[in-house]
Amino acid sequence: MKKNLLMWDETLFRDPEVFEFDYVPEQFQFRENQMRELAFQIRPGMRGGRPLNSICKGLPGTGKTTSVRKLFSEISDATKKLVPVYVNCQIDNTKFAIFSQIYRKLTGHLPPASGTSFKQLFDAIARILLKEEIVLLVALDDANYLLYENEINKVLYTLLRAHEAYEGVRMGVIVIISDLDVDLAKAVDARVTSVFRPTEIYFPPYEQAEIREIMQERVMQGLFPGILSEEMLSLVVEQTQGSGDLRVGIDLLKRATMSAERAARRTIDRDDICGAYMISKYLHLSFTLKTLTDEERKILKALALASLDKKEMNAGDVHKTISQSVEIGYTRFYEVIKKLDALRIINLHYREGKGRTRLISLRYDPQKVLEYLS
Ligand SMILES: Nc1ncnc2c1ncn2[C@@H]1O[C@H](COP(=O)(O)OP(=O)(O)OP(=O)(O)O)[C@@H](O)[C@H]1O
Ligand SMILES: [Mg+2]
Repeated sequence: MKKNLLMWDETLFRDPEVFEFDYVPEQFQFRENQMRELAFQIRPGMRGGRPLNSICKGLPGTGKTTSVRKLFSEISDATKKLVPVYVNCQIDNTKFAIFSQIYRKLTGHLPPASGTSFKQLFDAIARILLKEEIVLLVALDDANYLLYENEINKVLYTLLRAHEAYEGVRMGVIVIISDLDVDLAKAVDARVTSVFRPTEIYFPPYEQAEIREIMQERVMQGLFPGILSEEMLSLVVEQTQGSGDLRVGIDLLKRATMSAERAARRTIDRDDICGAYMISKYLHLSFTLKTLTDEERKILKALALASLDKKEMNAGDVHKTISQSVEIGYTRFYEVIKKLDALRIINLHYREGKGRTRLISLRYDPQKVLEYLS
């Protein structure tokens, strides 16, 4: 193999891919129960029936996406009659965008960017499903991005009642949610509830011993031997567990290794790990901020500035302050606030009293929010 110039001899990485975001590990332990339950829900679809609907729920980094992806690739290997479609709702968060992904999975290309109505798109999908006798299984990952502006109802309603508009069409849905405060039963309306009836599959946080095993596996695959001592691995595990998110731990390993590499050392030390953790622990924040619109960023910035000297803020007051620099009505402002809450950047709660007071607090250090916004 020809050596890449940037991957000179001194690298500590045996395989850097192992630490990438979208890496699907071959070894995937501790989620057997969840995978088995999901498989049970899906099974009718393997025989031409409608798959049962599921909700996968669990904190960030508990293996929800990976479990679904693994099952989906098994389905694709086994049959062409049940077609799994994976949708990342952070990116595709409208009904049209989601159905465009379904269309793409079925045809190999996206629908024309302009001039296609939703009806035409839906017609085309239904035609293919009926003609080729395909059952559809749609995973809506990070579905909390559909929770505001009522998109979740529009999407689920259209998917689950498709058979009413097109007789014989069969679809099942897997909704993936990482916010434990979200009660989907409350978020969806009665017309959806009557056809949705999902089974909830819970993904608990990994225990310390499990985190250790998973990390050890990554280290063995991704790094050369002897680079991370047992003691340093323990530190990584501790910090991963503290953050509650396996992804933070994997990112931490990558950064700590790069830090050791930069210092031309053959081993990772405590400072590499602690320095890396200062960045990795804000992974969720930096990732989420990138998905925000300009308007949302402006509002969040104003919130962060306001919370520099006041931890808990009244929504009405914040709106008044913000309207001085951003032209925005209260209704729209409140929509954005609800979105930031659903994305776990802020915390929105109520205080009963003279009327209901809406209170906002940041989930992160405001300085950090400002830093990542700029
Ligand atoms: N049991 C496991 N064994 C090995 N690696 C795992 C395991 N569970 C999760 N991972 C790894 O941890 C990272 C996070 O997992 P995943 O993306 O599946 O979590 P998630 O529950 O979907 O999180 P989020 O809610 O934030 O999207 C991934 O890099 C994945 O490869
Ligand atoms: Mg996920």
